[in-house]
Parts: sequence; C-alpha cells; structure tokens
Amino acid sequence: MLVTAKDMLEKAVAGKYAVGHFNTNNLEWTKAILSTAQELNSPVIISSSEGAGKYMTGFKTVADMVKDVIDSLGITVPVALHLDHGTYEGCIKCVEAGFSSIMFDGSHYPIEENVAKTTELVKLAHDNGLSIEAEVGAIGGEEDGVIGMGECADPKECKMIADLGVDFLAAGIGNIHGVYPANWPGLSFETLAAVKEQVGDLPLVLHGGTGIPDDQIKKAISLGVAKINVNTECQLVFAEATRKYIEAGKDLEGKGFDPRKLLDPGYKAIKAKVKEKMELFGSVGKA
Ligand code: 13P
Repeated sequence: MLVTAKDMLEKAVAGKYAVGHFNTNNLEWTKAILSTAQELNSPVIISSSEGAGKYMTGFKTVADMVKDVIDSLGITVPVALHLDHGTYEGCIKCVEAGFSSIMFDGSHYPIEENVAKTTELVKLAHDNGLSIEAEVGAIGGEEDGVIGMGECADPKECKMIADLGVDFLAAGIGNIHGVYPANWPGLSFETLAAVKEQVGDLPLVLHGGTGIPDDQIKKAISLGVAKINVNTECQLVFAEATRKYIEAGKDLEGKGFDPRKLLDPGYKAIKAKVKEKMELFGSVGKA
C-alpha cells in the first residue's frame, strides 16, 4: 500500500524503533525491498536518488514500477516512495511523477536560502498529499557527485527548518555516505541530543546507515532517530554475490547466463541485508 512516510515515522518515534529507507536502482532492488518488507510485516521507505531516477529513465518510470510491483506482489504493508537528496527541480518532478514523499536537500545553501526553498516545497508537498524531509548540516561522503565533509548540524538551525512544517528532518551528526574510514570518530550523540531537544517529537533521519556499528544505531534510535537510510550496503552485497556466481563459473553452466539466473544471487543478498536491517531497526511486525 503506497502511503506517505509521515504516519509510519510518527509511530516509529512513539514506539522507539526506526523504519528502514532503502535506495532502489532497478526491478531486482525493488522486488527485494518490497517483498522482504511484506514477509516481515514491516513498514518500509523505498527511495530513488536523482541519479538513480535518471538511470531508470525518469521518476515516472520509478513511480510506475514501484506501484505496479506493490499491485502485482499484493504488498499490503505501508510503503512510502521517497526522493532521496532532491534538488528543488527534482522535488517538483517527483510530485508530478506520483511519489508519496520527497526530500529537499538544501543543506549546502546558506540557511536563509535553505529556509526559503524548504518553505516553498513544504507547501507544494502538502498541497499534493506528500510528506517532506529537509536537511540541515551536510552529510559527509559522496552522493551523486556532491561531496560533504560530515558536518554536525546547528541545533538552532534545525529548529528553524523544523518550524517550517517539514514531516521529518535529517540532521548531520558526523555521519557519512558510503563506507566509513578507519579513523571515523563515530556519531556525535551530543549533537543528536541537542537537536532532539530543539525539535521535540519530530522524527529524525540518520543518513549513511552503511557500516554504523549496531550499538550506535540503537543509541541513535533511543535519541529520536526514526528513519535510517541504507544504500551502499545493498550495493556491496549485490556485487559480492554476483562476483561469486561468475567466479564459480556458473554463468557458463547450462543457461546460467540467463539474467534471471545471473542476478538471482544478488537479489537474494539484498533481501538478506534488508531483513538484517529491519531486525536491527526494530520495525519487524510494526506494519
Ligand atoms: P549509505 O550509502 O552510506 O548507506 O547511505 C545511504 C543514504 O544516506 C542515502 O541517503
């Protein structure tokens, strides 16, 4: 069932668990994420970055694919289809394409410009029945060519953006997209607690879920994180499973070259990873 992310995240804050946000790239990813959510009776957020949207020929293709997979697999758990790190223009396109949720990432703008653009997009999202995420304090690492250094958000700026009526907020707390470097100091729980103090029950979002140790994930959830974004880990396990299949020469046995066989180990690896994360985040059985 396609819904916005608002209710599922408010329930997660109240129940002290987090809903997983998993980025999709194609049909294998979409099937793996949605079928696992259904099997575990978990709410889920499936998301496309602007780059992945382009790769899949446009946001309308993504929206139609996700809706059709929900229909044909009979998915009854709450599913939000979300734009990840959207530009102003990307947000407008996703509203038109039929997404149920958008993220406007204005974290690289001066705060006044982030406020002005977020204000407009909150109105656009809500007028069209979508939920909206905003960001303060750029998340480190590289995503779609944008490189941030893993800032810690200013809690007062978080309050300014929260007060615009966003449905959930990504605040940088030293998190980084992609694999964490060996010398990463860990999440800044001080920052997280200070942000939480400013924004109250507004659901907080933790980007860069890949490779954050389980105890830090649990502590972040206890401090108000209700949405955790995971992308790179699914890509890594997909690539590893596919490499093993080919290195074992299985594509050369019988019809092992058939893409439905070749991509199956990677598909199963994504399912296992999504299950592991849903169990860790505590969203199993919460649909
Ligand atoms: P990772 O790729 O580090 O899991 O981060 C995902 C993310 O935050 C998407 O917005």
